Amino acid sequence: MVTSVPKPTLDVSESKTKALKENILTPRFYTTDFETAAKLDLSAQDSEFQAMLAEMRADYNRHHFVRDETFDRSWENLTGEARQAFIDYLERSCVSEFSGFLLFKELSRKLKDRNPVLSEMFHLMARDEARHAGFLNKAMGDFGSTMDLAYLTKNRVYTFFPIEWVIYTVYLSEKIGYWRYIIIYRHLEKHPENQFYPLFRYFESWCQDENRHGDIFKALLRSQPKLWQTWQSRLWSRFFLLTVFATHTLTVHERTGFYNVLGIDATEFDREVIRKTNETAARAFPSVLDTEHPQFFDRLHRCSDLNLQMSEIDRSSQPKWVKKLRKLPLQLSIIGHLVRIYLTKGIDAEALKGTVR
Ligand SMILES: [Fe+2]
Ligand SMILES: [Fe+2]
Repeated sequence: MVTSVPKPTLDVSESKTKALKENILTPRFYTTDFETAAKLDLSAQDSEFQAMLAEMRADYNRHHFVRDETFDRSWENLTGEARQAFIDYLERSCVSEFSGFLLFKELSRKLKDRNPVLSEMFHLMARDEARHAGFLNKAMGDFGSTMDLAYLTKNRVYTFFPIEWVIYTVYLSEKIGYWRYIIIYRHLEKHPENQFYPLFRYFESWCQDENRHGDIFKALLRSQPKLWQTWQSRLWSRFFLLTVFATHTLTVHERTGFYNVLGIDATEFDREVIRKTNETAARAFPSVLDTEHPQFFDRLHRCSDLNLQMSEIDRSSQPKWVKKLRKLPLQLSIIGHLVRIYLTKGIDAEALKGTVR
């Protein structure tokens, strides 16, 4: 029997809000050097920026994020580990979308008088991310918990990233976001029986927002020669690719229960998302990782096994210092695997550009 539940709202004063479980994999909030951001010279990519601005103003998804009647029922049928894994998925996605909103909003505000083109661009991207975060927060409400986003805004620690790092990492998070959403969407198109909740039906147009945001950051990156013409830029590119991919592998394998309900093999999903994102990044970055290297996924998966062992230790009732001591060799081992991947010869993406792929 289908019972209808009251529609959850984004009212942040609600008492039933969820405290954020923080760990190294929780998406952070960022702040940056607004002075340097204001001085960015975009002239090398001017026509791209104007084209992107026109697309963003057109606001194709204006009417997309509206909950229809398929949400009006109880979701008590999703239980146990799968339910928890899904709530964790929603929570992480919501924090990540909201983190984008906060950073873009602040950039838009601070750049208003100094760099109006960029300021408007960030304003329009913040608009999209606010919709995404709000939609996910309402979904969390369906499962009995919403996030107090106003509280998080005021009380969470902000990590400082120089604007160059922001450009690399936000580009990657937009593009990896695109691939995560579209791969789930396409899978469920073929297997509608696994669509256990209507949120996924929204992913097709949603991921186009992320794709556009990624393209804006690509134009930003290519407008700054030092972000792709120097040897340092090659090292930074591969470094950020690796951190984003390692975080992805670890989080996906922490919630295999969620992917199982969707009928998706978590390891396969992780592999496909990483391959596609790396391939896409070759259009913006000067150098990317060799995901076809025989040890690439092997080492990433070993990191994720070690991470699961650490979670196991965390759940035990041992004293804190014992847990710390037991986790130390596992942490060192993860770092060892990541360093080995990093030192593997990368792929020269500049040489690939212009060739038909
Ligand atoms: Fe988003
Ligand atoms: Fe985005």
